[in-house]
Amino acid sequence: MERERLEAIWERTVEKLKEVVREFKITEAELHEAGDYFNRLGQSGMCRSLIDVALAMTSVDVVASKSGGTRPNLEGPYYAKHPFRANGNLLEHEPAADAARLVLYGTVTDTTGASVADAELDFWQADSAGIYDRKGAHLRGKIKTDGSGRYQVTTIVPQDYAEHDHDPIGELFRAMGRPNIRAAHVHIKVYVGGELRLTTQVFMPTSEYLGRDYVEGAVSDDLILRFEPEPSARGSKSYRAKFDIAIAASPEAVAS
Ligand code: DHB
Ligand code: FE
Repeated sequence: MERERLEAIWERTVEKLKEVVREFKITEAELHEAGDYFNRLGQSGMCRSLIDVALAMTSVDVVASKSGGTRPNLEGPYYAKHPFRANGNLLEHEPAADAARLVLYGTVTDTTGASVADAELDFWQADSAGIYDRKGAHLRGKIKTDGSGRYQVTTIVPQDYAEHDHDPIGELFRAMGRPNIRAAHVHIKVYVGGELRLTTQVFMPTSEYLGRDYVEGAVSDDLILRFEPEPSARGSKSYRAKFDIAIAASPEAVAS
């Protein structure tokens, strides 16, 4: 970050926080309690997550406000490099017996409605217990749209996500009496010609946390899937869901 921008942001941030100190007559002991908390948070490696929870969607929305197309959403902490899935199957091993199967499909168009062939879609998500594979590539992978801009992946329905129960983020939310749970979602990135054009998330209509996702502002109706139930041989539930993606017509339109 350039020096002027850094200094201006620091000054404004301190000004805003001074207002909070005055409003609540925060004592020096309480400030030190906050400092100790941030030390613990840093040691746990969870500073990024807490910033995401409070501020990422404000950033995503303000940066993307002119782009049009599918609403972007935060990348979150668990993005990685993913393998190509020639058959569109994101599973690397059998899921839990109670996992609901999901076929996610749709088209990629630009905001004029023209289909985008050969776009690269990159998916990652938690499993049916709300856990991300952070070592391997289970429930992660890339595919390409076909000549008509169509895509399809085979996966399972992820579960609501509460991995912070044992770190300082969970500690903070427990202390406030709030749930620290992410509504179940699948992350998607879209690249065209090697250029990143969209980062978003789609939410599961079966989630109990759509109205109280702890990432403020993340869930919106346009990003909630509609499940089409399918007959399933296995006894587990099985759905299809269509999610059409519209990307801004040019990268410049996103940047300006
Ligand atoms: C967090 C987790 C996610 O999966 C995500 O997409 C965003 C934030 C988190 O742990 O805070
Ligand atoms: Fe996530």
